[in-house]
Amino acid sequence: MRHLMSPLDFTTEELDKLFDLAAEIEADPERFAHVCDGKILATAFYEPSTRTRLSFEAAMLRLGGKVIGFSDAGSSSAAKGESVSDTIKVISQYADICAMRHPKEGAAFVAASKSEIPVINAGDGGHQHPTQTLADLMTIRSMHGKLSGFKIGLCGDLKFGRTVHSLINALVRYEGISFVFISPPELKVPDYIIDMLKEKNIPYTEVIKLEEVIADLDMLYMTRVQKERFFNEEDYVRLKDFYILTKEKMSMASKDMLVLHPLPRVNEISVEVDDDPRACYFKQVKYGMYVRMALIMTLLGINTEVNNA
Ligand code: NCD
Repeated sequence: MRHLMSPLDFTTEELDKLFDLAAEIEADPERFAHVCDGKILATAFYEPSTRTRLSFEAAMLRLGGKVIGFSDAGSSSAAKGESVSDTIKVISQYADICAMRHPKEGAAFVAASKSEIPVINAGDGGHQHPTQTLADLMTIRSMHGKLSGFKIGLCGDLKFGRTVHSLINALVRYEGISFVFISPPELKVPDYIIDMLKEKNIPYTEVIKLEEVIADLDMLYMTRVQKERFFNEEDYVRLKDFYILTKEKMSMASKDMLVLHPLPRVNEISVEVDDDPRACYFKQVKYGMYVRMALIMTLLGINTEVNNA
């Protein structure tokens, strides 16, 4: 039985297969409309989410399966003091696969170690968010044509943003990637990530001003300042509008620079940028669903040749 805790749980070859399957699903969704008939996905969400939970639910429903779950800790037995380990043992009796989001780093790992069904980490605190990374990689592969040979700027909350941490971890396995980290000093990428880049000899720079580097980027990954992970409101208020990507800044960028964002957006991308053909963040949402469909099939061991007739 396999779980997905980190994007590194799959080799790059396995990821290629997963993205190929997601692309097949996108091209011919009808062929996959019943491959999960009779299967149940549980969504155990102890932390707010719109896109990730709905994306998992839509993915399972589009495969013909059904969904059960809870969308906040208050409506689950966690409110009565039940441990994650007990909850997953119970869910294992009801469902075939579980997507879990939890505010505590490592919660999904604990669940996976006690689970009788595959567990997907749908975000654990400020740590990892592997399925968002799958959506990001799928978007890059589709829009850029390959997962190698580009300079990516990551901008905003690089300290608490789990999507950023997962994406960097995943990208270092591809050839010719360099990173530009754009953040206020308070929200710099954590030391353990910098140490990993140094150890692997991967080029990176750290800057404060987006304007200074935007012209050199092949991709710009914008992120929201993670309000819920701040210890005090004052710091959040001071930093929340540090970056705002506007039409004017986009005019300084190359005509092919892709703009990605895991969403939700607050103010960091001005809505006037949405119509720019380089803005890919709503496409990311669509790819996120297809890649979750492919992931559910893969973890459930569903034969992809099924319904080929
Ligand atoms: C992200 C998350 O939850 O970490 N959202 C998402 O799942 N697409 C990003 C965020 O909340 O800023």
